[in-house]
Order: sequence, then C-alpha cells, then structure tokens
Amino acid sequence: MTLPDLTGRVAVITGASRGLGAAMAKDFQARGMKLALCARGELPLADGPDVLTSRLDIADEAAVRAFADAAAAKFGRIDLWINNAGVLEPVCAARDLTTEALQRHFNINVFGALYGCQAMQRHVASHDGEGVLINISSGAAWGGYAGWAAYCMGKAALDRLSETIQLEEAAQGLRTYAVAPGIIDTGMQATIRSCTEEVFPMVDKFHEYKNNNLFNEPDFVAEHLLQLAFDPDDDRSEVVVRLPAQKES
Ligand SMILES: NC(=O)c1ccc[n+]([C@@H]2O[C@H](COP(=O)([O-])OP(=O)(O)OC[C@H]3O[C@@H](n4cnc5c(N)ncnc54)[C@H](OP(=O)(O)O)[C@@H]3O)[C@@H](O)[C@H]2O)c1
Repeated sequence: MTLPDLTGRVAVITGASRGLGAAMAKDFQARGMKLALCARGELPLADGPDVLTSRLDIADEAAVRAFADAAAAKFGRIDLWINNAGVLEPVCAARDLTTEALQRHFNINVFGALYGCQAMQRHVASHDGEGVLINISSGAAWGGYAGWAAYCMGKAALDRLSETIQLEEAAQGLRTYAVAPGIIDTGMQATIRSCTEEVFPMVDKFHEYKNNNLFNEPDFVAEHLLQLAFDPDDDRSEVVVRLPAQKES
C-alpha cells in the first residue's frame, strides 16, 4: 500500500467519540492530518489548530450543516468526509419492529448519513475542487441477518445512496464509496454479543469472533480508507467496497 504524505490533509469523521471513529481520528492525527470530529459524546481529541470538535446529534440536519461550515471555515477545505456514526438497535424480529424504533434508527443511520453526504456535496461544489466521501456500511447491506431488519435496511440504503451520489457528483470532483469495514471489536460488537439467541440467532458466531480474536483492527481499516481516498495508484471503479478480513479464520 503506497500512501502519499498526508500532512495537512483535512478529514471529517462523524461518530468519532468511540469505536472505529475514535480510533481513526487518532490514526489520522498521527499522520499529520487536520480533523473535524463530531458525536453526541465526548470526543477523543482536544480542540486546537488542527482539530475541531462538535458535540451533536447526526440526526439534527441544521447542526450537521453548521458543523460542516465550521470545518470548512477553519481549515479552508475538506478533503475527506467519513460518515461513520451509526447504531445497531433495534435488534428484534421484523414482525416486532415498531415504526417509532425504525424511525429512530433511520434518523441516525440513513438520514444522519444523508446530511453528511449533502454537506460534503455542497462543500465540493462550492470550492470547485476535489473531495472523497466514504459512508461506513456493513456486510449487513449485502444480505439479511435475522434480528437486524432495521440495520440491514439502513446499510443497504446507504450503499444505494452512495452509488447514486457517485453518478450525480463524480463530474463535480466528488468520489464516493460505501465501505463495509469487516468486524471490529468496538462497543457495537459488545452490544451484539449481549443479545440473546432469541432475538439474534447468530449470536454464537459473534462470540466465536471474540474468542478467536478474528477482528479487523481499526488501524487496518483506517489505512484501507486512506488508500481509497488518497492512493494515486488505487484506480478501482466500484463504489461499494468490502474490506478483506485481516486475520485467517
Ligand atoms: N464494529 C463492527 O464490527 C462494525 C462492522 C460493520 C460496520 N460497522 C459500522 O462502523 C461504524 C462505527 O461503528 P462502531 O463499531 O465504532 O460502533 P460504536 O463503538 O458503537 O460507535 C458508534 C459511534 O457512532 C456515534 N453515534 C451514534 N449515534 C449517533 C448520533 N445520533 N449522532 C452522532 N453520533 C452518533 C457514537 O457516538 P455518540 O454515542 O457519542 O453519539 C459513536 O462514536 C458504524 O456505522 C457501524 O455500523 C461496524
């Protein structure tokens, strides 16, 4: 993997308080990148000349717009926007899904990501430059999982949204991807393992991932995303990308 010097490149990461988002923030900072980070909870890096943080709910369209404007004003441009914020819940059979629970989920995983996409689209169009948009998707976009109807629907929507944006915005200089990052040992995995077999029949498989440490490490994911965004030799044409498993099962 050949990555150019990324010093001074500007990345936005949503959902950066914990898990993959927080790990990517630290990895990118160590590479000299400038960062705009948001989440509802506390962010892992302090504000400074190269870091902007914002405590917001990604489902709040006006807050996402203001955050994007603040990032562009502080750093002059945004090179990479990663829509990483996401939730798993509700975990239940499709027959038990309530409109309220599904709406709450979509407000974050679909509408929240859409607001981020739109912010980056507006930014790239406004400064007549180039940019990369990465939506963090999941293997759950590729096929159903019993108990995960909301999550599967939301991530599949994100894949199709990413393909659509690529068609609409490539000529304006925006490259868009939906990336399934593999299984990473974050709080979301702990939530999965805490499910009963009754609501999530595949739960044993996820205990096995933990027992055998078959996870993709966050720095492995971070490097692949940076390769997609910045490696001049990476000339793949697909929008929906599935990262390989880092470890043999
Ligand atoms: N872990 C895996 O194995 C795996 C596999 C495939 C895909 N993914 C995807 O990877 C992404 C990161 O997941 P993770 O595993 O790192 O999960 P995580 O540890 O639960 O972290 C989720 C992040 O999203 C943020 N978030 C959730 N709701 C939000 C909201 N309403 N507004 C703003 N931020 C919000 C959380 O921050 P706050 O709660 O502080 O707001 C947190 O920073 C998600 O999109 C997930 O679907 C994960």
